[in-house]
Amino acid sequence: VVMKEVFDVRAMEEELTAKLGVKEVHIVPGDSDDYPWVLKEMGRSTVNVIKRHLLPEKNTIAVTGGRSIANVADMLIPDTDLKETLFVPARGGLGEQVENQANTICATMARKAMGRYRLLHVPDQLGRDAYESLIYDPIIKEILELIRSSTMVVHGIGEAMAMAERRNSSDEVLEKLKETEAVAEAFGYYFNADGEIVHKVLTIGLQLEDLKNIPTVISVAGGRTKANAIRAYLKRNPNQVLITDEGAAKEMLTKL
Ligand code: F6P
Repeated sequence: VVMKEVFDVRAMEEELTAKLGVKEVHIVPGDSDDYPWVLKEMGRSTVNVIKRHLLPEKNTIAVTGGRSIANVADMLIPDTDLKETLFVPARGGLGEQVENQANTICATMARKAMGRYRLLHVPDQLGRDAYESLIYDPIIKEILELIRSSTMVVHGIGEAMAMAERRNSSDEVLEKLKETEAVAEAFGYYFNADGEIVHKVLTIGLQLEDLKNIPTVISVAGGRTKANAIRAYLKRNPNQVLITDEGAAKEMLTKL
Protein backbone atom coordinates (compact mmCIF):
# COMPACT_ATOMS: atom_id res chain seq x y z
CA VAL A 1 0.00 0.00 0.00
CA VAL A 2 2.78 2.39 0.95
CA MET A 3 4.65 1.63 -2.27
CA LYS A 4 1.60 2.36 -4.36
CA GLU A 5 1.10 5.73 -2.67
CA VAL A 6 4.72 6.65 -3.25
CA PHE A 7 4.35 5.68 -6.87
CA ASP A 8 1.16 7.72 -7.30
CA VAL A 9 2.78 10.88 -5.95
CA ARG A 10 5.70 10.42 -8.34
CA ALA A 11 3.34 9.97 -11.28
CA MET A 12 1.38 13.05 -10.24
CA GLU A 13 4.57 15.09 -9.92
CA GLU A 14 5.65 14.08 -13.41
CA GLU A 15 2.28 14.79 -14.95
CA LEU A 16 2.04 18.18 -13.28
CA THR A 17 5.61 19.11 -14.24
CA ALA A 18 4.79 18.38 -17.88
CA LYS A 19 1.39 20.06 -17.90
CA LEU A 20 2.52 23.22 -16.11
CA GLY A 21 5.77 23.27 -18.07
CA VAL A 22 7.77 24.00 -14.92
CA LYS A 23 11.22 22.73 -13.94
CA GLU A 24 10.20 20.44 -11.05
CA VAL A 25 7.11 19.77 -8.95
CA HIS A 26 7.19 18.32 -5.42
CA ILE A 27 3.90 17.23 -3.89
CA VAL A 28 3.37 16.46 -0.20
CA PRO A 29 0.39 14.35 0.89
CA GLY A 30 -2.79 15.99 2.23
CA ASP A 31 -4.44 19.39 1.72
CA SER A 32 -3.21 22.41 3.66
CA ASP A 33 -6.71 23.93 3.44
CA ASP A 34 -7.78 21.22 5.90
CA TYR A 35 -4.67 20.48 7.96
CA PRO A 36 -1.97 22.92 9.08
CA TRP A 37 0.59 20.09 9.33
CA VAL A 38 0.54 19.89 5.55
CA LEU A 39 2.14 23.38 5.50
CA LYS A 40 4.88 21.99 7.73
CA GLU A 41 5.47 19.13 5.28
CA MET A 42 5.68 21.60 2.39
CA GLY A 43 8.18 23.54 4.50
CA ARG A 44 10.26 20.42 5.05
CA SER A 45 10.18 19.52 1.37
CA THR A 46 11.20 23.08 0.45
CA VAL A 47 14.22 22.96 2.77
CA ASN A 48 15.43 19.85 0.91
CA VAL A 49 14.93 21.52 -2.45
CA ILE A 50 16.76 24.66 -1.26
CA LYS A 51 19.77 22.57 -0.16
CA ARG A 52 19.86 20.69 -3.46
CA HIS A 53 19.97 23.93 -5.44
CA LEU A 54 22.62 25.79 -3.45
CA LEU A 55 25.60 27.03 -5.42
CA PRO A 56 29.03 25.85 -4.21
CA GLU A 57 29.55 29.30 -2.67
CA LYS A 58 28.13 32.81 -2.24
CA ASN A 59 24.45 32.03 -1.92
CA THR A 60 21.97 34.83 -1.44
CA ILE A 61 18.41 33.68 -0.83
CA ALA A 62 15.56 36.17 -1.19
CA VAL A 63 12.32 35.26 0.58
CA THR A 64 8.79 36.63 0.55
CA GLY A 65 6.27 36.78 3.36
CA GLY A 66 3.21 34.63 4.03
CA ARG A 67 2.43 31.51 6.06
CA SER A 68 3.83 29.05 3.53
CA ILE A 69 7.27 30.64 3.64
CA ALA A 70 7.09 31.11 7.42
CA ASN A 71 6.72 27.31 7.59
CA VAL A 72 9.86 26.88 5.50
CA ALA A 73 11.72 28.98 8.08
CA ASP A 74 10.35 26.76 10.86
CA MET A 75 11.82 23.70 9.23
CA LEU A 76 15.34 25.04 8.74
CA ILE A 77 18.12 23.67 10.93
CA PRO A 78 21.82 24.58 11.10
CA ASP A 79 23.65 23.12 8.15
CA THR A 80 27.24 23.59 7.02
CA ASP A 81 26.01 24.24 3.46
CA LEU A 82 23.80 27.10 4.63
CA LYS A 83 26.25 28.72 7.03
CA GLU A 84 27.66 31.16 4.51
CA THR A 85 24.24 31.98 3.07
CA LEU A 86 22.89 35.52 3.12
CA PHE A 87 19.12 35.83 3.53
CA VAL A 88 17.30 38.93 2.25
CA PRO A 89 13.63 39.89 1.91
CA ALA A 90 12.45 39.88 -1.70
CA ARG A 91 10.40 43.09 -1.52
CA GLY A 92 9.50 45.82 0.92
CA GLY A 93 6.29 46.12 2.98
CA LEU A 94 3.29 44.36 1.46
CA GLY A 95 0.87 44.78 4.34
CA GLU A 96 1.38 41.50 6.21
CA GLN A 97 1.26 40.93 9.97
CA VAL A 98 4.68 40.94 11.60
CA GLU A 99 5.04 37.14 11.81
CA ASN A 100 4.24 36.82 8.11
CA GLN A 101 6.45 39.65 6.89
CA ALA A 102 9.40 38.91 4.62
CA ASN A 103 11.80 40.72 7.01
CA THR A 104 10.73 38.56 9.97
CA ILE A 105 10.92 35.33 7.99
CA CYS A 106 14.29 36.29 6.57
CA ALA A 107 15.74 36.95 10.05
CA THR A 108 14.27 33.68 11.39
CA MET A 109 15.75 31.71 8.50
CA ALA A 110 19.20 33.18 9.06
CA ARG A 111 19.02 32.49 12.79
CA LYS A 112 17.86 28.89 12.31
CA ALA A 113 20.32 28.13 9.52
CA MET A 114 23.09 30.09 11.29
CA GLY A 115 23.47 32.22 8.19
CA ARG A 116 23.49 36.01 7.80
CA TYR A 117 20.72 38.43 6.89
CA ARG A 118 20.03 41.96 5.72
CA LEU A 119 16.68 43.66 6.09
CA LEU A 120 14.74 46.15 4.02
CA HIS A 121 12.88 48.74 6.07
CA VAL A 122 10.18 50.23 3.91
CA PRO A 123 6.73 51.44 4.93
CA ASP A 124 3.75 49.45 3.66
CA GLN A 125 1.84 52.22 1.98
CA LEU A 126 4.44 53.80 -0.19
CA GLY A 127 3.54 56.98 -2.07
CA ARG A 128 5.27 57.90 -5.35
CA ASP A 129 7.42 60.58 -3.72
CA ALA A 130 8.61 58.38 -0.88
CA TYR A 131 9.30 55.61 -3.37
CA GLU A 132 11.39 57.88 -5.60
CA SER A 133 13.49 59.18 -2.73
CA LEU A 134 14.01 55.75 -1.12
CA ILE A 135 15.57 54.19 -4.19
CA TYR A 136 18.31 56.85 -4.13
CA ASP A 137 19.21 56.30 -0.48
CA PRO A 138 22.72 54.74 -0.48
CA ILE A 139 21.95 52.12 2.18
CA ILE A 140 18.72 51.07 0.49
CA LYS A 141 20.50 51.06 -2.85
CA GLU A 142 23.10 48.67 -1.56
CA ILE A 143 20.58 46.19 -0.22
CA LEU A 144 18.49 46.46 -3.40
CA GLU A 145 21.56 45.43 -5.37
CA LEU A 146 22.04 42.44 -3.07
CA ILE A 147 18.40 41.46 -3.55
CA ARG A 148 18.60 41.71 -7.32
CA SER A 149 21.73 39.60 -7.40
CA SER A 150 20.13 36.81 -5.36
CA THR A 151 21.05 33.29 -6.39
CA MET A 152 17.73 31.87 -5.21
CA VAL A 153 14.21 33.12 -4.49
CA VAL A 154 11.68 31.33 -2.30
CA HIS A 155 8.20 32.81 -2.58
CA GLY A 156 4.52 32.26 -1.87
CA ILE A 157 1.53 32.48 -4.21
CA GLY A 158 -1.87 33.63 -3.00
CA GLU A 159 -5.41 33.96 -4.23
CA ALA A 160 -5.88 37.53 -5.48
CA MET A 161 -8.97 38.57 -3.53
CA ALA A 162 -7.90 36.78 -0.36
CA MET A 163 -4.56 38.60 -0.48
CA ALA A 164 -6.09 42.00 -1.22
CA GLU A 165 -8.39 41.58 1.78
CA ARG A 166 -5.62 40.30 4.04
CA ARG A 167 -3.71 43.49 3.16
CA ASN A 168 -6.67 45.73 3.87
CA SER A 169 -6.46 47.12 0.35
CA SER A 170 -8.60 50.14 -0.50
CA ASP A 171 -12.05 49.77 -2.09
CA GLU A 172 -10.54 51.23 -5.21
CA VAL A 173 -7.96 48.44 -5.45
CA LEU A 174 -10.56 45.75 -4.65
CA GLU A 175 -12.77 47.13 -7.41
CA LYS A 176 -9.90 47.16 -9.89
CA LEU A 177 -9.04 43.55 -9.07
CA LYS A 178 -12.66 42.47 -9.60
CA GLU A 179 -12.91 44.32 -12.89
CA THR A 180 -9.69 42.85 -14.21
CA GLU A 181 -10.63 39.37 -12.93
CA ALA A 182 -7.49 38.96 -10.87
CA VAL A 183 -7.02 35.41 -9.59
CA ALA A 184 -3.42 35.21 -8.37
CA GLU A 185 -0.93 37.22 -6.37
CA ALA A 186 2.84 36.85 -5.92
CA PHE A 187 5.55 39.41 -4.95
CA GLY A 188 2.90 42.14 -4.69
CA TYR A 189 1.81 41.60 -8.32
CA TYR A 190 -1.73 40.53 -9.17
CA PHE A 191 -2.45 38.33 -12.21
CA ASN A 192 -5.51 37.28 -14.22
CA ALA A 193 -6.20 33.66 -15.27
CA ASP A 194 -3.88 34.07 -18.28
CA GLY A 195 -1.05 35.12 -15.99
CA GLU A 196 -1.10 38.74 -17.16
CA ILE A 197 -0.23 41.43 -14.59
CA VAL A 198 -3.35 43.43 -13.75
CA HIS A 199 -2.12 45.35 -10.69
CA LYS A 200 1.07 45.90 -8.75
CA VAL A 201 1.75 47.11 -5.20
CA LEU A 202 4.16 50.03 -5.16
CA THR A 203 7.14 48.90 -3.15
CA ILE A 204 10.87 48.51 -3.68
CA GLY A 205 12.80 45.28 -4.02
CA LEU A 206 12.67 42.42 -6.47
CA GLN A 207 10.67 43.11 -9.62
CA LEU A 208 9.12 40.32 -11.62
CA GLU A 209 11.50 40.89 -14.52
CA ASP A 210 14.47 40.34 -12.18
CA LEU A 211 13.47 36.68 -11.79
CA LYS A 212 14.90 35.73 -15.15
CA ASN A 213 18.43 36.48 -13.89
CA ILE A 214 18.06 34.35 -10.78
CA PRO A 215 19.24 30.74 -11.16
CA THR A 216 16.68 29.08 -8.86
CA VAL A 217 13.15 30.27 -8.19
CA ILE A 218 11.03 28.17 -5.85
CA SER A 219 7.32 28.75 -5.25
CA VAL A 220 5.63 27.23 -2.22
CA ALA A 221 1.84 27.11 -2.37
CA GLY A 222 -0.77 24.47 -1.60
CA GLY A 223 -4.42 23.88 -0.72
CA ARG A 224 -7.16 23.17 -3.29
CA THR A 225 -8.44 26.75 -3.02
CA LYS A 226 -5.11 28.01 -4.41
CA ALA A 227 -5.15 25.73 -7.49
CA ASN A 228 -6.35 28.43 -9.91
CA ALA A 229 -3.95 30.99 -8.49
CA ILE A 230 -0.93 28.68 -8.79
CA ARG A 231 -1.81 27.76 -12.36
CA ALA A 232 -2.40 31.38 -13.39
CA TYR A 233 0.85 32.63 -11.89
CA LEU A 234 2.94 29.81 -13.41
CA LYS A 235 1.52 30.37 -16.89
CA ARG A 236 3.92 33.20 -17.57
CA ASN A 237 6.53 32.30 -14.99
CA PRO A 238 7.14 28.59 -15.57
CA ASN A 239 10.90 28.67 -15.14
CA GLN A 240 10.53 27.55 -11.53
CA VAL A 241 10.32 24.74 -9.03
CA LEU A 242 6.90 24.27 -7.40
CA ILE A 243 6.37 22.82 -3.93
CA THR A 244 2.70 22.06 -3.41
CA ASP A 245 0.31 19.63 -1.74
CA GLU A 246 -1.98 16.86 -2.92
CA GLY A 247 -5.07 19.07 -2.55
CA ALA A 248 -3.82 21.72 -4.99
CA ALA A 249 -2.15 19.16 -7.27
CA LYS A 250 -5.32 17.08 -7.76
CA GLU A 251 -7.42 20.17 -8.35
CA MET A 252 -4.96 21.50 -10.94
CA LEU A 253 -4.78 18.15 -12.74
CA THR A 254 -8.55 17.94 -13.16
CA LYS A 255 -8.45 21.23 -15.07
CA LEU A 256 -5.27 20.91 -17.11
O1 F6P B 1 2.41 38.82 1.07
C1 F6P B 1 3.46 37.95 0.81
C2 F6P B 1 3.02 36.70 0.07
O2 F6P B 1 4.14 35.93 -0.25
C3 F6P B 1 2.20 36.96 -1.18
O3 F6P B 1 2.96 37.39 -2.27
C4 F6P B 1 1.47 35.66 -1.37
O4 F6P B 1 0.32 35.81 -2.15
C5 F6P B 1 1.14 35.31 0.05
O5 F6P B 1 2.13 35.92 0.87
C6 F6P B 1 1.00 33.85 0.33
O6 F6P B 1 0.65 33.72 1.66
P1 F6P B 1 0.30 32.33 2.35
O7 F6P B 1 1.48 31.47 2.18
O8 F6P B 1 0.03 32.70 3.78
O9 F6P B 1 -0.92 31.81 1.65
